[in-house]
Amino acid sequence: MCGIVGYIGFREAFPILINGLKRLEYRGYDSAGCALLHDGHLNVYKAKGKVSDLEHVAETKDIKGTLGIAHTRWATHGVPSEVNAHPHVSMSGQLALVHNGIIENYAILRQRLMEKGVKFYSETDTEILVKLIEYIKDKRHCDLPSAVRMALHQAIGAYAIALIDVNEPNELLVARKSSPLAIGIGEDNREFFIASDASPIAEYTKQVIYLNDEEIAVIRRDEPLKVITILNHEVEPNVQTIDIDLGMLSKGGFPHFMLKEIFDQPEVLRDCMRGRLLPDKVVLSAVENYKDRLLSARRFIIVSCGTSWHAGLIGKQLIETFCEIPVEVEYASEFRYRRSTVDERDVVIAISQSGETADTLAAIEKAKSKGAFIFGIVNAVGSSIARATDTGVYIHVGPEIGVASTKAFTGQVLVLSMLAIALAKAKNCIAQEDYLTLIGELGCIPDKINKVLEQNDRIRELARIFTYAHNFLYLGRGYNYPVALEGALKLKEISYIHAEGYPAAEMKHGPIALIDSEMPVVFVATHHKLHKKIISNMMEVKSRGGRIIAIVTEGDEDMKKIADEVIEVPETENCLVPLLSVIPLQLLAYHVAVAKGLNVDQPRNLAKSVTVE
Ligand code: AGP
Ligand code: GLU
Repeated sequence: MCGIVGYIGFREAFPILINGLKRLEYRGYDSAGCALLHDGHLNVYKAKGKVSDLEHVAETKDIKGTLGIAHTRWATHGVPSEVNAHPHVSMSGQLALVHNGIIENYAILRQRLMEKGVKFYSETDTEILVKLIEYIKDKRHCDLPSAVRMALHQAIGAYAIALIDVNEPNELLVARKSSPLAIGIGEDNREFFIASDASPIAEYTKQVIYLNDEEIAVIRRDEPLKVITILNHEVEPNVQTIDIDLGMLSKGGFPHFMLKEIFDQPEVLRDCMRGRLLPDKVVLSAVENYKDRLLSARRFIIVSCGTSWHAGLIGKQLIETFCEIPVEVEYASEFRYRRSTVDERDVVIAISQSGETADTLAAIEKAKSKGAFIFGIVNAVGSSIARATDTGVYIHVGPEIGVASTKAFTGQVLVLSMLAIALAKAKNCIAQEDYLTLIGELGCIPDKINKVLEQNDRIRELARIFTYAHNFLYLGRGYNYPVALEGALKLKEISYIHAEGYPAAEMKHGPIALIDSEMPVVFVATHHKLHKKIISNMMEVKSRGGRIIAIVTEGDEDMKKIADEVIEVPETENCLVPLLSVIPLQLLAYHVAVAKGLNVDQPRNLAKSVTVE
């Protein structure tokens, strides 16, 4: 769960590596390092902390060289420290390697090499790879690609690696299995860029290859790229043209990526609907092309994690309500190991922002092996999950950098809404009038989000009042229940305040015991048929001294009388309410974290892309 960058070509590598690492810091950020090859020397620099700490360390050092690799780490094995930071070097000091993933059998491999006299210095699983590769290379007198192949044969687990060798100043080797890796090809093969995703590459070239599992790329200066499998079969690289808006990768005047991404929502949701939401119909090519397969399913199973799982809970309500197809929502991490009845009669919907979440990918593989049809709802174009699905809908909300997911959530909910409406129409189970009402209402959502965003200053003031809290409760019913879960997750992730989400009516079955004057309770309580019942839940909190923040529909006077603080959202169709009611919760979490002086974009212990179990 780290970021890898590499360069080979005619330019100085260091600035490219550092800029690339900064773009990838969202993937992990407890330590960083780089290795540069210059004049027959391998210069390796490392720092505990952020990429800027590495930059600082390198200030006084030799940072020349047109071949280099770099890494920003999110530790899985061994504490964040300089010794454990990547790159790791071989016994002779001639090879340097960076790795993203986990080598599960590292302990046994390490033991074997130690018995042969190989020494280890770090606590990482990664170090075994570079030591094993050199050991095989020396023992078998083979070239580096062959040694890499043989070493990877022995490795169990997940890896994206990049490797350089002092004796091969014109060669950069990369390989992957279950961890992402992209290769950018410069003009006339004069330079190559490698990275964990295409964002560090996009400013130099649009020609990109995504390596497949168990493939090794042998990248040589001024030569066409060669891709082999670990079984030594040569494969034709599949070059794709990428389209990344670089403006989307910078903060655009906002103090944090998270705030920018919250404010981006009206615009990016318009992008998500473009060409799909027409005045009188919803057109999703995946539904057009696979209508029969989708409608003949006995059930849908949604697999995802975290925020994407919350979007899945909303998807369940949408699809069951409009399409009358049974839907189960599973945590991918549970589904992948559980004995399941999934088979070829099922459609599995995988939801993921990054498209690289290891648990979701494994859940897909399991469902596939049982013959299920896989439908992806993914943001990162060309990502592993996108490639593993049979069909799907990209959410197209642009790269999300803030670790706490915001615009990806609304994008996922929007796609699920369009999917439910398009399927209901294809199945003929929605009245034309209702169909048109929902289409019209979806079109108004971006403007309505703008209205919610206008309350940002007020929510900032409100947040200041609540920084004292150690616990928060979030309650909602129906479509707002997953929103309550999402609001609680946002607060936990970035403000480190303990927060729980519940269906509002569940409060009386336990959580009510926690309520006192120290406990703020957020009610996501927009109009719907259970409005009166929510008011009763509020009264229960009030009578125990709890402080109530209510997210209500504009003009709801009843709620205003009861709640201590009220944030209004415009009226919309009940099923589309999450697209509006989640916005104040995103802002509340953001402002509480800022008021507490915390690192909003890179909260402790978290990484943007969870590519390990
Ligand atoms: C969201 O704020 C989280 N950081 C996290 O729960 C995330 O949604 C989860 O890891 C799933 O990621 P994905 O959508 O990229 O698969
Ligand atoms: N498992 C390796 C480590 O702990 C790599 C982790 C990562 O992907 O950042 O160093």
